[in-house]
Amino acid sequence: MLSSKANPSRSHPFKPFVSLKNLNRESYLELFKVARSLSLTQLEPTQKHSAALLFFEPSTRTRLSFDLALKAEGFATIVIESGAGSSIEKGETLEDTLYNIAAMGVDILVVRANESFPYLEIANQVRQPILCGGWGKRAHPTQAMLDALTLQEIAPDFRDLRLLFVGDVLHSRVFSSHRELSQILGYEIAVCGPAGMTPSSEVCPKQFLTLSEGLKWSTAVMALRYQKERHSGSYSFAEIKEQYSLNAQALAQLDAQGLILHPGPIEFGLETERETLQDPRCRIWQQVENGVRVRRALVRAVRAQL
Ligand code: CP
Repeated sequence: MLSSKANPSRSHPFKPFVSLKNLNRESYLELFKVARSLSLTQLEPTQKHSAALLFFEPSTRTRLSFDLALKAEGFATIVIESGAGSSIEKGETLEDTLYNIAAMGVDILVVRANESFPYLEIANQVRQPILCGGWGKRAHPTQAMLDALTLQEIAPDFRDLRLLFVGDVLHSRVFSSHRELSQILGYEIAVCGPAGMTPSSEVCPKQFLTLSEGLKWSTAVMALRYQKERHSGSYSFAEIKEQYSLNAQALAQLDAQGLILHPGPIEFGLETERETLQDPRCRIWQQVENGVRVRRALVRAVRAQL
């Protein structure tokens, strides 16, 4: 049974599930245990519930894995993709769209939106649990969870995990959610990236100026996409590639037992090279599989509280 934690004013951990602080360490370990035990081909035979996937920003992995996870757990799903074909094109706000779909009686809402979307206020207006599928650069809780599930391979209780984030950390919602989860589960995080793309030392005290130093410190490394759509400054991506690409030469600095991750989507030739997929330490496909597993475990936990 999952227990909520941390925020006593918020009695329901999934209204909304935007912050990883809504659950405690034991709850995550239990969810990861369920996720690991799931057979991805064994589905619930009948649909007893319904869910709406409101993806107001583009997505492949998160949207489709939530959809698979919900269907596997007995939910019929309806989907809005980037507002296309909906009355958002006629000027209806995202909030009003959500209220209308909530009024149709679905049991769960999964929402990806930009950082101005008022998750917390909306959660007080609708009866349904709301699961965050990505919130601007603020949060991506289930991505951090699937990464953690993947990293349990080398750090079963997380205590000796040292995870290095490389690249555009400042704009990364994945990093934001790992800041929360690392404090709950007890692993260390550090960053390394171009000037103007790393957070302040208050946000992340452990910072490396060179990739080589960071890789020698880490037990796992996660490359992050350069979110060009969120940048106003101009950068020399040739120089960034030279200094921060996780290519074979750089990855020679990572421990032989270390793991290589990327949340996707990947810009090959910049954050890393396609050949990294062949590195025996690479777990990028495992992350994608674990995305279905962890979301299915989460959906099952939410269903138990409907
Ligand atoms: N990692 C991730 O969130 O990928 P998508 O944007 O494809 O969902």
